[in-house]
Amino acid sequence: MGGDVRATEEQVRADDRAHVFHSWSAQGLIDPLPIASAEGSHFTDYSGKRYLDFSSQLVNVNIGYQHPKLVAAIQEQAARLTTIAPGFANDARSEAARLIAGLAPGDLDKVFFTNAGAEAVENALRLARLHTGRHKVMAAYRSYHGATAGAIAVTGDPRRWASEPSTPGVVRYWGPYLYRSAFHAQTQEEESARALQHLRDLIMVEGPSTIAAILLETVVGTNGVLVPPPGYLQGIRDICDEHGIVMIADEVMAGFGRCGEWFGVDHWGVTPDLITFAKGVNSGYVPLGGVVISAPIAQTFDQRVYPGGLTYSGHPLACASAVASINIFKEEGIIEHARALGDDVIGPGLGELAERHPSVGEVRGLGVFWALELVRDRHTREPLVPFNASGADAKPMTDFAAACKARGLWPFTHFNRTHVVPPCTTTAEEVREGLAILDEALDVADSHYTGADA
Ligand SMILES: Cc1ncc(COP(=O)(O)O)c(C=O)c1O
Repeated sequence: MGGDVRATEEQVRADDRAHVFHSWSAQGLIDPLPIASAEGSHFTDYSGKRYLDFSSQLVNVNIGYQHPKLVAAIQEQAARLTTIAPGFANDARSEAARLIAGLAPGDLDKVFFTNAGAEAVENALRLARLHTGRHKVMAAYRSYHGATAGAIAVTGDPRRWASEPSTPGVVRYWGPYLYRSAFHAQTQEEESARALQHLRDLIMVEGPSTIAAILLETVVGTNGVLVPPPGYLQGIRDICDEHGIVMIADEVMAGFGRCGEWFGVDHWGVTPDLITFAKGVNSGYVPLGGVVISAPIAQTFDQRVYPGGLTYSGHPLACASAVASINIFKEEGIIEHARALGDDVIGPGLGELAERHPSVGEVRGLGVFWALELVRDRHTREPLVPFNASGADAKPMTDFAAACKARGLWPFTHFNRTHVVPPCTTTAEEVREGLAILDEALDVADSHYTGADA
């Protein structure tokens, strides 16, 4: 167990049950596991059981837990200046903005800091609407953009349903997803071309002059690690240029190493107008997010007030942790490591699992951002559990997750998928240990297989 635990497991559990209101949960139906400590790619419960984290918590602990240099940088900043309002200039904030602008492609040279991802999306939408003077936003099905009013309105998954009716002016589209193509495509090229044509058709009938932004996750995260096919992101860029629409790449999950690049868009060499980030920018050691803003959009607000702000925009503690994290990434070659893990270890390893386990319908991903799509039948592609399943319907997935946890692996599961999203700093050896556990746990999924080739 880790050094400095301040309460017993029983106290933690009792106070949690009595007083903590948890996200996305029926409060009476959950039993959150008390965690005593964490280090590197593992966290440890009060019984001393260690879990190899194949989820990076909420796909945010990209640098791993308790990185000593990052902890030291936060301590140093805390001793120097813990807080100052956004209206002042501050060295930690300026340095974080300079570094992030330096990493972002093209002329994305200014950063508006927020506390996390949803606020980044809110402000990206506001920037796009005010810059264009237009109102509508095109947002994808199978997406997640955050839980505040505007961010949930542009979210394309069931987490939005309970918040409806919500902000008007959201036009939804299907993004590319060849395995379950909305376009009857057979190849990635067809999927890309047809998804773009679908978007063009929607824009035509909605009226291009009414559309402020096309919003997309560069690589769709929680909704399936959907890697865009060749030409898709460039096609979006071209459509935006043609119609004066702002391209917003939501990189809250895809950014800062997850794709084996600083930003996911780097993989395709495409420059959006706005990039939202959070999570991996400082691995959540202190809450931080933001929007990186292109020069023309920033200039819109040179003489005109930007009508948005947050008490903690550019918080020194958070910004100092971003500076330290970016420098550690550079010093330790973490981007290159993440890319190599994907190419040499995770991708090939998951490919082998797919050969052994009929329930693995598809393997997809890049960097440290992978998904196994689990099915009952490879030919019909019937998902292992129904869309948005819960309770008894979701049991094959909960049993699979329980089998992972019993063996010391913390998985990230969503619907009929398990994602492989460890910290970018996880060693090849640790990844192999995790893949060996997945190999055993996938027997649970196989036991539900009904295909003729079972
Ligand atoms: C792509 C994407 N955008 C936005 C968000 C919202 O971020 P936050 O939970 O930090 O508000 C998330 C969170 O998972 C995300 O994955």
